[in-house]
Amino acid sequence: MQVAVFFLLLLGAMSEDQALHLIHLPATSNMAENSPPGTSVHKFSVKLSASLSPVMPGFPLIINSSPLTEAFRVNWLSGTDFEVVTTGKEQLDFETGPRVFDLQVYVKDDVGVTDLQVLTVQVTDVNEPPEFQGNLAKGLELFIVEGANPGFLYQVEAFDPEDTSQNIPVSYFLIPPSKSFAMSANGTLFSTTEFDFEAGHRSYHLTVEVRDSRGLKASTALQINIVNINDEVPRFTSPRRVYTIPEELGPGTIVANITAEDPDDKGLTSFLFYSITTVNSYFMINQLTGTIQVVRRLNRDSGELRQNPAISLEVLVKDRPFGGQENRKQITFIVEDINDNPSTCNKFTFSIMVPERAAKGTLLLDLNKFCFDDDSEAPNNQFNFSTPSGVGSSSRFLQDPAGSGKIVLIGDLDYESPSNLAAGNKYTVIIQVQDVAPPYYKNNIYIYILTSPENEFPLVFDSPSYVFAVSELSPARTRIGQVQATDKDFPQSDIIYSISTGGASLQSPNIFWINPQTGELQLVTKADYETTPVYTLRVQATNSEDSSSVTVTVNILEENDEKPICTPNSYFLAIPVDLKVGTNIQNFKLTCTDLDSSPRSFRYSIGPGNINSHFTFSPNAGSNVTSLLLATRFDYASGLDKIWNYELLVYVTDDNLLSGRKRAGALVETGTVTLSISVIPRPTTVVTTTPRPRVTYQILRKNVYSPSAWYVPFVITLGSILLLGLLVSLIVLLAKAIYSHCPCKTGKHRKSLVKKAEMKNAKRELVVETIRLNSVFDGEARDPVTGAIYEFNSKSGARKWKDPLTQMPKWKESSPQEAVTGVGTKVPGSSDKERDGLRGKAQAEDAGLGSRNQDGKPSTPKKRNPALTSQASPKVQPEK
Ligand SMILES: *[C@@H]1O[C@H](CO)[C@@H](O)[C@H](O)[C@H]1NC(C)=O
Ligand SMILES: *[C@@H]1O[C@H](CO)[C@@H](O)[C@H](O)[C@H]1NC(C)=O
Ligand SMILES: *[C@@H]1O[C@H](CO)[C@@H](O)[C@H](O)[C@H]1NC(C)=O
Ligand SMILES: *[C@@H]1O[C@H](CO)[C@@H](O)[C@H](O)[C@H]1NC(C)=O
Repeated sequence: MQVAVFFLLLLGAMSEDQALHLIHLPATSNMAENSPPGTSVHKFSVKLSASLSPVMPGFPLIINSSPLTEAFRVNWLSGTDFEVVTTGKEQLDFETGPRVFDLQVYVKDDVGVTDLQVLTVQVTDVNEPPEFQGNLAKGLELFIVEGANPGFLYQVEAFDPEDTSQNIPVSYFLIPPSKSFAMSANGTLFSTTEFDFEAGHRSYHLTVEVRDSRGLKASTALQINIVNINDEVPRFTSPRRVYTIPEELGPGTIVANITAEDPDDKGLTSFLFYSITTVNSYFMINQLTGTIQVVRRLNRDSGELRQNPAISLEVLVKDRPFGGQENRKQITFIVEDINDNPSTCNKFTFSIMVPERAAKGTLLLDLNKFCFDDDSEAPNNQFNFSTPSGVGSSSRFLQDPAGSGKIVLIGDLDYESPSNLAAGNKYTVIIQVQDVAPPYYKNNIYIYILTSPENEFPLVFDSPSYVFAVSELSPARTRIGQVQATDKDFPQSDIIYSISTGGASLQSPNIFWINPQTGELQLVTKADYETTPVYTLRVQATNSEDSSSVTVTVNILEENDEKPICTPNSYFLAIPVDLKVGTNIQNFKLTCTDLDSSPRSFRYSIGPGNINSHFTFSPNAGSNVTSLLLATRFDYASGLDKIWNYELLVYVTDDNLLSGRKRAGALVETGTVTLSISVIPRPTTVVTTTPRPRVTYQILRKNVYSPSAWYVPFVITLGSILLLGLLVSLIVLLAKAIYSHCPCKTGKHRKSLVKKAEMKNAKRELVVETIRLNSVFDGEARDPVTGAIYEFNSKSGARKWKDPLTQMPKWKESSPQEAVTGVGTKVPGSSDKERDGLRGKAQAEDAGLGSRNQDGKPSTPKKRNPALTSQASPKVQPEK
């Protein structure tokens, strides 16, 4: 300071009045505190020296200050005018800093003239507004997490610089007032609402104003940022809750896409995590994409899905693998039925029996009872039936109503109907069971319908009754006749024939046997006309359904034992040698009768003697009158014919009506006629020397029994009975005379009488035999072998030697055939030893009937000699 003052003095001394001067200095100037930079504090001028030397650039300047400050500088105004202004480098504060500054303003000109003056600056107090503490004045940024509770946020601090004691409070305000925030008077900032970042409340810009008691104010900016936190649950963005899916989807099929977003992360690539919380075996969710896939077969038609096709699931979505926010959603899958099961049946082949008389309209089969479709819903589980097919079935069977599977009979199944028989009474109906929904699955059903026959027709014999006849000579096993029963019912079953009653004889319990298969009635043994002339049998026919019986009458035929008798039985004829062939010789006719044969049963044949067959009878059979014709010409000239006299033996048999087969076994009687024919040579008149024609009428008898001769033994028997009666009456009279005194008649006595009568009967038989031998003989003949004469009875055939000494001749049969028939007619079974035994037995059993037997069969004892029978010869031959 002393240096400066000295310097100034030096300057003054040098220039004096003409020296350089600072005008308006020294001076004291006031300046408000906190004046902004450039605030004019004091203006002054420079008075140049006389030389007018300009002021050196950079001058005047404040070369010193007390206290030291940089708060002022000199600013050039114009010319020589200058001013002191604030620099702003220092805040001049009245309350805190120095209040007075002495500024030494120094000026110098080119010539080195200087001046130095002091400017005293007094800082004056001005009233200052309140100030915010610290950096608060520059603004404040606050962060609040969203969702935080309303309440205290921040305490704003401000003060009044004038109030150094800090006693006077300042007031705080929010400009403009906010709904979400509030500021209490003491500077406490509150939030009044809860903030939601996602609702768009991201940040707030507020102004906080502070005022002092004198109304000065200050303000600062306040920015409040809402901090986003993970406070939001993820939200599902897929709206569907119900998904309808078909059954039987393959594993892996995506059936749903579940999507969600996290509002906290909106617009950002966020990762959400999906899962299904419901326990289920059908579906799986992709943890990251949310797609739901099928993992197991979904069969709608069975199990739980058939009961309930809805599967409910809860899907969980989280925004963090662990912790974080999560959300849940119920979704439902409804599994729909598809037609994946064909309609089917328990069985596809049916065999049904239908009675042939089943009525039209009968329901034969209802296929609905056997068929089904496993699909769970209509129309997939519905089915119908196709039109039935099958050869011949359409006219007989119908599905009624169409498609219903009900097979109804519409035709006639009559088992016997020709068309049904042709079909074998078996029908096949083919029908298909088919789905009504696509793809129309089908299955074939085969129905075999068999007609069961019913017993519609009775088993009937072809004839209401049968009458057969059989010869009593017929041997065992002879066919008698045949019965036949038929049953119009088909199929025809075997008919079994049997004899139910009848057919027993004394000799045999069964005379007849019927072939069970053919109904042919046969003899088991010979029948005896004399024992039972007529048998009445009940023959039964039985088949599987019915039985029926019929009366069969078997007439036992008495055999043909009368031989034809012809007239004339001998005749002499003469014919010219040249008689025309075919001429009825002398108009000769033979007329025959037979007592037991038809007039048409005669057959004529010429036996030995018809040399060269010149003669014939016409007709030679079938008539009781026949004519003798010349059959061939005589030819003596060539030597063919040699004899002139013909002795013809004509056989007349009664077998014409018998068929050829029968002729062999049947009884045939033969009559003979002897014809003597002389051929008269034409040109000569030679008197024939032929002896008197001798006609021998010979009747061959094999059977000596004749029913027509019954009166012979009858008369004899009657006579003997009369004789016995006389004898008995005499004895009775005698007995009465002897026992006249005895009044009683006992049963015993009667019995003895009966016994006596029986004895007489026995005696009578003997008488009959005896008298029988003395029968009447009305003919005589010579035995051609012995030449002896014998007598014979032309009716009965009985004969005896005329010489009384000769024994009763024994008979031999003329031919074996006749022998058999003769024996067979009279004594059944007598031709062999067996029958002998049988006969003996029969006689023993039948002592009472024996008389008839012996009456009718006088020749029996003779025939029973087998030796004689074997020597049979064609001629009647008495035996010695
Ligand atoms: C400011 O005032 C409020 C009431 O308006 C009060 O609750 C709070 O405690 C006060 N704060 C201070 C720091 O005194
Ligand atoms: C699910 O999404 C996938 C891929 O985005 C797509 O291929 C599929 O068809 C969707 N499935 C369904 C059922 O929406
Ligand atoms: C059976 O159903 C099918 C499909 O619905 C139909 O075409 C057909 O006519 C039906 N058949 C009968 C006989 O009703
Ligand atoms: C011959 O037979 C006929 C019937 O064919 C009969 O009328 C006639 O009386 C018979 N003659 C003699 C002689 O028996």
